[in-house]
Amino acid sequence: MIKIAKEAARAAGEILRRHYGQLEPGAVRQKAVNDFISYVDEQSEAEIISHIKKTYPDHSFLAEESGMQRQNSKYQWIIDPLDGTTNYIHQIPVFAVSIALKYGDDLILGVIYNPLSDELFWAEKGQGAFLNEQPIRVTDKGDLAQSLIATGFPFKAKHLLPQYLEAFAAIFKDCRGMRRLGAAAIDLAYVAAGRFDGFWEIGLSPWDVAAGAVIVREAGGRVSDFWNQSYFLHNNYIVASNGKIHKDLLKRVQRPFPFFIDVHEKDES
Ligand code: IPD
Ligand code: CA
Ligand code: CA
Repeated sequence: MIKIAKEAARAAGEILRRHYGQLEPGAVRQKAVNDFISYVDEQSEAEIISHIKKTYPDHSFLAEESGMQRQNSKYQWIIDPLDGTTNYIHQIPVFAVSIALKYGDDLILGVIYNPLSDELFWAEKGQGAFLNEQPIRVTDKGDLAQSLIATGFPFKAKHLLPQYLEAFAAIFKDCRGMRRLGAAAIDLAYVAAGRFDGFWEIGLSPWDVAAGAVIVREAGGRVSDFWNQSYFLHNNYIVASNGKIHKDLLKRVQRPFPFFIDVHEKDES
């Protein structure tokens, strides 16, 4: 399965690489406010799904652009065919393909491929995490003051901006620096590889985080929601870290978010 996942990620990455910088403005459509899609997202997703289906025709799929394809199988592939679409459109070279596999409720493998740097981050549950063929590990820093933290801005949940900014201030004040790369899969891969010490974001979907979560855990790190539970895949609140600074991050995000608030703005009309 990991072999098929890697092949699919590389084939999709080739599509992203080929069209990078070539998109006509008319090729980009808006799915929702500040949320874009082009034929590249669609081609990449079609390639991944058809590649996996050749070997596993009975498996289920949850993919960002085509949604759920439910089958009578406990295996479900969770796919983001292009994480970092806004970067891609603006020719900022930070984006990736993200593919995970769930068996029942268990995330069992993850692959994140950055086609421009040719970096393939991958992990299978219980087998460790790798960047290409090299084992990777999270950092062992226990001090937030020495930690580099990544985040993402809640551009799809601007009604939560005051709380987000309060959490941002609480972390930023006490850490070495904060980064916003614009691709959650890469943020998580970098936590696993020890480039970042932690990452937190509001408003992400299962396809943004599923592969990264497996890779971070297999690299020795911790992934949870803001309340230290494992619902991050579906409740849109995620904290990932090297484990040692996890409590420090949770404390700071919990102050403005003492409990779950729906990230989807209610339509008042
Ligand atoms: C987005 C990226 C971004 C995050 C967004 C995601 P997309 O994914 O991961 O970093 O802040 O919330 O939606 O739309 O480019 O696949
Ligand atoms: Ca994404
Ligand atoms: Ca995407």
